[in-house]
Amino acid sequence: MSQLLVTGGAGFIGSNFVHHVIANTDHEVIVLDKLTYAGNAASLAGLPEHRVRLVQGDIADAPLVDDLFSQVDSVVHYAAESHNDNSLSDPRPFLDTNIVGTYTLLEAARAHDVRFHHISTDEVYGDLELDDPERFTESTPYNPSSPYSSTKAGSDLLVRAWVRSFGVRATISNCSNNYGPYQHVEKFIPRQITNVLRGIRPKLYGTGENVRDWIHADDHSSAVLTILEKGTLGETYLIGADGEKDNKAVVELILRLSDLPTDAYDHVSDRPGHDLRYAIDSTKLRTELGWAPRYRDFEAGLAATIEWYRENESWWAPAKDGVEAFYASKGQ
Ligand code: NAD
Ligand code: DAU
Repeated sequence: MSQLLVTGGAGFIGSNFVHHVIANTDHEVIVLDKLTYAGNAASLAGLPEHRVRLVQGDIADAPLVDDLFSQVDSVVHYAAESHNDNSLSDPRPFLDTNIVGTYTLLEAARAHDVRFHHISTDEVYGDLELDDPERFTESTPYNPSSPYSSTKAGSDLLVRAWVRSFGVRATISNCSNNYGPYQHVEKFIPRQITNVLRGIRPKLYGTGENVRDWIHADDHSSAVLTILEKGTLGETYLIGADGEKDNKAVVELILRLSDLPTDAYDHVSDRPGHDLRYAIDSTKLRTELGWAPRYRDFEAGLAATIEWYRENESWWAPAKDGVEAFYASKGQ
């Protein structure tokens, strides 16, 4: 049994990870989360209180971080400002949390010699052409497009520097687009599912030809646990489940699974600088660490996710109107 600190554990992927850890290990977990608009303590409801403790606080608060690092063996760092559209409207919080926050954690990891795993994104590699036969690998050069992805790229480089210069015992993973329960309604899939549940037509940016490489959040969690247990210090691992789909196909599938005509959606203004395609080659993680995804049927995973949003309206409803008003103000 070990003591884990999970930053951002009340967010989408962090809370899925905490549920996964409680179900599959005997670790005890401290969640450090600022509970921004994206964090929700309700995402941790039902977990055993003797194994999960939520501390509300900022990863950039050095004394708090120092105290928490003195209580744990390992840290998994999910906390971030995570939404591209928000980073285009107001980049500042992305710098504060993704850059200064990660720096603060790295200094504590250095002081306490704690095992540190940094969660990052495939967006640090920029985008691919639709017909490019190559996918992202661990050696693809960094080329981020948005304020969000550039701050994530910066945070990855900080981790690498703290490994090399100070011997911090860290690993990094860069994952593709996640779907599943507890995802904020600002994001593509929950926005369209909850639109349909509210009788609003789904909204597709631009032509809808943009491709994302979907992975279930629980598969992301099992990959992170594998890296924490078996990863080589200083290494980066790409996480993906061969789930490439264009946005139009995803909207059409949500409509079909909801028994609605598959053309019952609107095209809206495109995202400025919109990345065209992401695609992950996760060979290193699979061959070196023996990881494999469990959710291989996207349609079944999406149907279960639709069902989760249908059954958990009280979880998402408080955020829905504000999110739609924000998008409407931008013609989206
Ligand atoms: P999210 O926005 O749902 O959750 C982020 C969490 O971090 C929230 O609970 C929020 O309250 C917390 N947080 C924000 N600023 C904080 C601060 N200063 N101090 C403490 N807590 C703070 O994000 P997510 O989609 O769950 O993403 C989690 C991580 O995974 C991020 O690092 C993101 O870059 C990465 N990632 C996400 C995806 C994806 O598809 N969503 C894919 C790959 C990587
Ligand atoms: O690739 C990993 C990244 O995936 C993570 O690093 C980010 O934290 C996460 O938010 C996600 O970024 P995207 O920008 O790909 O996700 P988003 O859900 O915002 O959009 C997915 C795609 O859907 C993208 O091509 C934009 C499009 N879109 C989005 C919304 C909200 C629409 O067409 N309509 C919409 O209403």
